Amino acid sequence: MKFFVDTADIGEIRACAELGLADGVTTNPSLVKKAGRPFKEVLAEICALIPGPVSAEVAALDAETMIAEGRVLAKLAPNIVVKVPLTWDGLKTCRMLAQENIRSNVTLCFSANQALLAAKAGAAYISPFVGRLDDVGAEGMALIGEIRAIYDNYGFATQLLAASLRSPEHVKQCALAGADVATVPPGILRELAKHPLTDKGLATFSADWAATGQSIL
Ligand code: G3P
Repeated sequence: MKFFVDTADIGEIRACAELGLADGVTTNPSLVKKAGRPFKEVLAEICALIPGPVSAEVAALDAETMIAEGRVLAKLAPNIVVKVPLTWDGLKTCRMLAQENIRSNVTLCFSANQALLAAKAGAAYISPFVGRLDDVGAEGMALIGEIRAIYDNYGFATQLLAASLRSPEHVKQCALAGADVATVPPGILRELAKHPLTDKGLATFSADWAATGQSIL
């Protein structure tokens, strides 16, 4: 499973890339707002740092303007993937951009049927939002399994990019369910490294090593 970093914070992306944990990056308007920097400037910086796919979301809601925005975003760097919402106009945009060899990440997916339509439209990635389904009492992770089964049944090339992941458990369940990609906030990536028994064991090893009075360097 690939890891994309779900942030527009260049410092956080760099820190994850240093550990080989940034196979790509996803951004959205809320993350761009949080970064507090000009959209195109921050995208250019991310694309120069990360060779993998970098998702940049359109702002318009109608297909004609979304297509125009998608073309502009795609010109920023060869690794840009244009993020479009899972609406009828978004699917039309995805189709049109695919015909121009511009990759799309279809976002805000909350059902298997939506994911089926995105694959038919030629999406490079589908982004089901696990955490937001959990928020409304549904079982977000079940959707990952459903999409995996449907895409495998028909050999769709669209990559399953699990999004809105809020916990290490979400990440593990995505890997078990066969997601191609998990896009993960940097804080959750750091949490994946943690275990209380690791901390406890390390405290003992450190104390015992100090008691030997030795030095490696
Ligand atoms: O990639 C989409 C993701 O950023 C949404 O996450 O936590 O805002 O639902 P969240």
